[in-house]
Amino acid sequence: MIISGKDLSARMKAEMAEKVATFPQKYGRVPHLVVILVGEDPASQSYVKGKGKACEVVGIRNTTILRPATISEEELLALIAELNADDSVDGILVQLPLPKHINEDRIIAAIDKSKDVDGFHPLNVAALWMKQPCTVACTPKGIIRMLDEAGIEISGKRAVVIGRSQIVGLPVAKLLLDRNATVTICHSRTQNMAEITRQAEILVVAIGKAKFVTEDMVAPGAVVIDVGVNRIPETGKLCGDVDFEAIEPKASVITPVPGGVGPMTITCLMENTIECFEKKMNAR
Ligand code: GUN
Repeated sequence: MIISGKDLSARMKAEMAEKVATFPQKYGRVPHLVVILVGEDPASQSYVKGKGKACEVVGIRNTTILRPATISEEELLALIAELNADDSVDGILVQLPLPKHINEDRIIAAIDKSKDVDGFHPLNVAALWMKQPCTVACTPKGIIRMLDEAGIEISGKRAVVIGRSQIVGLPVAKLLLDRNATVTICHSRTQNMAEITRQAEILVVAIGKAKFVTEDMVAPGAVVIDVGVNRIPETGKLCGDVDFEAIEPKASVITPVPGGVGPMTITCLMENTIECFEKKMNAR
């Protein structure tokens, strides 16, 4: 079975659109997401465009602020401070990566926790690990949603995550653990990785290397979630971290690239924006 993140995203966005349509009457306005794009990286431009498009579908107000790659850290911090103070702004997202002269950690920490729709703020990350209410990062949230929608039981399963990034590997491992999976985290220094991944009933791959997971690394019947977004230089085509053609016949469930996890990330961003908005409005 191939899980289409695209179809699930379309359904979720349609449901969110219905909900958002009730907001003007209920709250006097719709949620407002501000996306900051620094520089002209084509991949970042494409992600930002996708976020704007999703906002349009869901009925969320979107402002994209473009700044040159030469912007200073102080100027970017000042912009974030302004947006933090602006009551008409519900979500703030700074597209990553940032130019090298800017400290990403400082920028992320400067965003008000209650407007951190990415779930990257240290207080949101800490709350996740302490099992407290928080904004969950979009990609890990989208992965769990896909598993749930596909009717895959997580509890009691042996899950292996390849990758230990702050954005995907670590939080998805934590979410699987909280759902009572037994979780192993592998990474680029793991020895004899295939021995470990072959034990996985659920395998999540977020290592950022095209076709890193080969057929011999996957157990028959495994659920394979491919978070990779790699561009093949020769063709310009997207390719996952998993050798899809070789593994699809062997897996019980697999996510394609493109059209798997990617659309779910943006859809969960819409969900997080609505959550931040409702939390704020209901607190009044
Ligand atoms: N760059 C790649 N993915 C993401 C994301 O989910 N959020 C932000 N802010 N930047 C990214």
